[in-house]
Amino acid sequence: MSGRVRVGVLVSGNGTNLQALIDVSRAPDYPARITLVLSNNPAAYALERARQAQIPAVVVDQARFALREQLEQALLDALREHEVQLLCLAGFMRILSPGFLSSFGGPVLNIHPALLPSFPGLHAQRQALEHGVKISGCTVHLVDAGTDTGPIIVQAAVPVLPGDDEASLAARILREEHRIYPLAVRWVAEEAIGLRGRVVQLKGVPELSDHALRNPGKLVP
Ligand code: GRF
Repeated sequence: MSGRVRVGVLVSGNGTNLQALIDVSRAPDYPARITLVLSNNPAAYALERARQAQIPAVVVDQARFALREQLEQALLDALREHEVQLLCLAGFMRILSPGFLSSFGGPVLNIHPALLPSFPGLHAQRQALEHGVKISGCTVHLVDAGTDTGPIIVQAAVPVLPGDDEASLAARILREEHRIYPLAVRWVAEEAIGLRGRVVQLKGVPELSDHALRNPGKLVP
């Protein structure tokens, strides 16, 4: 990918991760810029964030499509029209089909509010609390055909504290999400990661890669 990579962000709700990506991509040396926001929910506050940042936004209202294929085709049409090269799911509440992923053709990233492979799917923070884990966190991963199963790019951990409820744990995790999603997008845009099997590695500095992937804060400028 040459020049600043054109990123599409797929949202359904509040869009704080979208905001984190918008904010970081204001820096001229950030290797990616948000060129399209796509929402399947016309009421998503993320659309207002796009408007304020003067980023084109398209609503693909799922109520208007009887079949998943039709909704996905509308998403693909918008992504093509805006020449999106890298797609980021950020609170997007639908599973994308293998056909969609191969038609798009570029990398697709997702952020999940748990340390995968623990607690995939919905209500990850509630699952973590009910299981009684003492550490949770968030994961940015490449999207494959499964639910939150793709290769892990970066994770960050947070403690689960006595007295936590879903909201307090979600807020603590969200702060880390806003830190690691921009980092993962940077690495993908710079083509700085490679895959060995399903293991994501930072290219070029193999002796540093494990350390870097576990300590993303050390690499954030
Ligand atoms: C985040 O917790 C993200 O991990 C999950 O959905 C939530 C979206 O939050 N996939 P926001 O819309 O980015 O504020």
